[in-house]
Amino acid sequence: MVDVAINAMRDWSTNGSNANTGGFFDAARACDALLSSTREVLGEFLGADPRGICLGANMTTMTLAFTRAIALTLRPGDKIVGTRLDHEANVSPWRIACEAAGAEHVLVPFDPSNGRLDMAEFERLVDDRTRWVAVTGASNLIGTMPDLKAVIAIAHKHGARVFVDAVALAPHKQICIRELGCDVLATSPYKWYGPHAGVMYVEPNLLNSLPVAKVRAASNDGPRRFETGTPNFEGIAAVQAAARFLIEEDMQKLNAIEGALFKPLLEGLLDIDGVTVLGPHDLASRAPTVSFTVDSITPDRVAQELAAKKIAVWSGDSYAMEVVAQLGLAEKGGVVRAGIARYVDEHDVNKLLSAVRGLTSR
Ligand SMILES: Cc1ncc(COP(=O)(O)O)c(C=O)c1O
Repeated sequence: MVDVAINAMRDWSTNGSNANTGGFFDAARACDALLSSTREVLGEFLGADPRGICLGANMTTMTLAFTRAIALTLRPGDKIVGTRLDHEANVSPWRIACEAAGAEHVLVPFDPSNGRLDMAEFERLVDDRTRWVAVTGASNLIGTMPDLKAVIAIAHKHGARVFVDAVALAPHKQICIRELGCDVLATSPYKWYGPHAGVMYVEPNLLNSLPVAKVRAASNDGPRRFETGTPNFEGIAAVQAAARFLIEEDMQKLNAIEGALFKPLLEGLLDIDGVTVLGPHDLASRAPTVSFTVDSITPDRVAQELAAKKIAVWSGDSYAMEVVAQLGLAEKGGVVRAGIARYVDEHDVNKLLSAVRGLTSR
């Protein structure tokens, strides 16, 4: 977490306003004001109408609450189109909703040779029965960024709505929901230097029309429909601070800094004999996240060897089960994943590359 977010959480916790919404006294008013100012800042950060910004525990929990409502609107014969590039948090919730409603759930594959979404297959699968398209903004495993504008245009042409999982996109790229035109977009502030929390934008008219599961006494108005129970105010104060931080940092600048570090990481890995880079081998339309395998060494073993050198990488599927399955690596322990964030520097990249080189030359 960035310092300003940590400080905001501490400040909120010590300011005497730890109450709840909807009261007539100062502390309650401060809680109301925090929710509305946070929606405003997140609206600015994501280029979205603040009336659609819902705050919650994390992306997975919010997506499951969302698809639980969607399940009640689906009929047998309806179709949901997802992708094999997606994290499980944007696959399983839709599958569960389809199973409950007797609807069909299909996944668009990607090209394993370059990690790009198969747009021809996407166009073939989206039809007039399609109610929702659930698509990632960026693969959390191999970095691919599908062409969201094209995906949304095809879906909307068939009257389908679009849910974008922006968890792996938001830390790296400026998002403008108004420009994209998606109906729902979910993101996790802990991926962009904030606290563990979730943010989900739902187009305000849609938000008010959904059969959301909530207790009778709670507000049935706008984002509060999805914000069940008492909000995590101290966390929300920190979410707002993290979003302000990124607005001030400027996502375009951040993107350029990350890109300059990612290029040598990707090229360095591509250059090592005995290392296979999965997904796109180029820098276009991708997040600065790369997955690879090392010949004759399991991904877990690679991660352990790197951890011993104080290098933190993930191994396995990182919940991108469909990606790993389509790459044919599910039975082989998946992949090793490394990525660039704002706190990574050139030294870290070189350290990773030389450690991986060391493993291959044994
Ligand atoms: C692409 C993607 N989607 C969804 C999630 C789930 O997010 P959360 O941990 O907020 O539930 C993750 C988490 O790593 C992710 O990378």
